[in-house]
Amino acid sequence: MSPLQTIGIICFVIITLWLGVQITVLNTCLHAKRHVPTNLHILCQKEENYLLLRVFDLVKNEPQCTKLVKTLQKSVNAYDSRPRIFIVTPTYARPVQKAELTRLSHTLLLVPNIHWIVIEDSENKTSLVTNFLSKSRISFTHLNVPTPLPMKMKKEDPNWLKPRGVLQRNAGLSWIRKHVDPEEQGVVYFADDDNTYDLDLFEEMRYTQTVSVWPVGLVGGLMVEKPLVENGKVVGWNTVWKADRPFPIDMAGFAVNVSLLIHHRRAAFSLAVARGYQESKLLGDLVTINHLEPKADNCTKVLVWHTRTEYPKLKQERKLSVPSNVGIEV
Ligand SMILES: *[C@@H]1O[C@H](CO)[C@@H](O)[C@H](O)[C@H]1NC(C)=O
Ligand SMILES: *[C@@H]1O[C@H](CO)[C@@H](O)[C@H](O)[C@H]1NC(C)=O
Ligand SMILES: *[C@@H]1O[C@H](CO)[C@@H](O)[C@H](O)[C@H]1NC(C)=O
Repeated sequence: MSPLQTIGIICFVIITLWLGVQITVLNTCLHAKRHVPTNLHILCQKEENYLLLRVFDLVKNEPQCTKLVKTLQKSVNAYDSRPRIFIVTPTYARPVQKAELTRLSHTLLLVPNIHWIVIEDSENKTSLVTNFLSKSRISFTHLNVPTPLPMKMKKEDPNWLKPRGVLQRNAGLSWIRKHVDPEEQGVVYFADDDNTYDLDLFEEMRYTQTVSVWPVGLVGGLMVEKPLVENGKVVGWNTVWKADRPFPIDMAGFAVNVSLLIHHRRAAFSLAVARGYQESKLLGDLVTINHLEPKADNCTKVLVWHTRTEYPKLKQERKLSVPSNVGIEV
């Protein structure tokens, strides 16, 4: 045998072995690929959206992966047969805005099958909220609508507050009516960015036939404001502040079935009602007290608190000729 023939045989053996290994690997991959949907299904059921979060984490900085992320999100949601919760959050620019949104988003990351609708009180979408949402890893819709400037007379009234949130929540409702299938199992919750939420609250509201209600802590000048329940039915309220309202309940204290909302096309909040009457306006458009479903063990548990963040002390800031946050987002 010539040296050339020997080298040829050795090369042939090596290439054959290498091809053999490649085919085995390929087979394993093909085999695995066939099973991906089932694995994904089981994993998603078991791990809820944890798997999705991991994928987001790995690809979030890759612009070319945006489509992949959206597709994954859709398939994971499709596997989740639980009713979806549409969380409607109005927000406006202020020193604590990013801190509040960060805290709320971390709560929402732990809630499976949600869609977060964030509506800015502004003429244009801000880069702060746009960037915040795109890295939030939550399924979201970003909208904006400005609250109109107050009428002169009202502004001089010391009791008058800018009616923030009204048009923003309505924009959220319009989006839901336009984009959500009326047959979809779901529920709408108005979650302000400054409250504190127990994760159990979301599972309480998830199966809402009409409108569900529960106690809210630290609101209306009381430790707790709650519906009064007798034999599993709401019969009244323990409210003190403006107790003669038709539904004396805080925004954080109820959730609405999506299909009920879609079928009552005109149900909405209004700039024309007095402070404290927004909840009564929407609920009055949808139900009577007889329809309310008490949750949180017949309204005996507090799962949401109307916490309010103290306005930060910025006395030193005002003395600066150049603000401390030039070129840095706070
Ligand atoms: C909003 O955007 C428009 C178009 O880019 C611009 O003309 C306008 O000045 C912006 N308004 C504010 C309040 O930034
Ligand atoms: C919402 O209401 C519709 C119509 O009554 C009902 O079919 C659906 O099951 C309800 N959704 C939930 C989550 O209970
Ligand atoms: C609520 O009260 C009703 C009537 O007393 C009772 O049948 C039902 O089991 C209670 N629900 C819970 C979750 O405690």
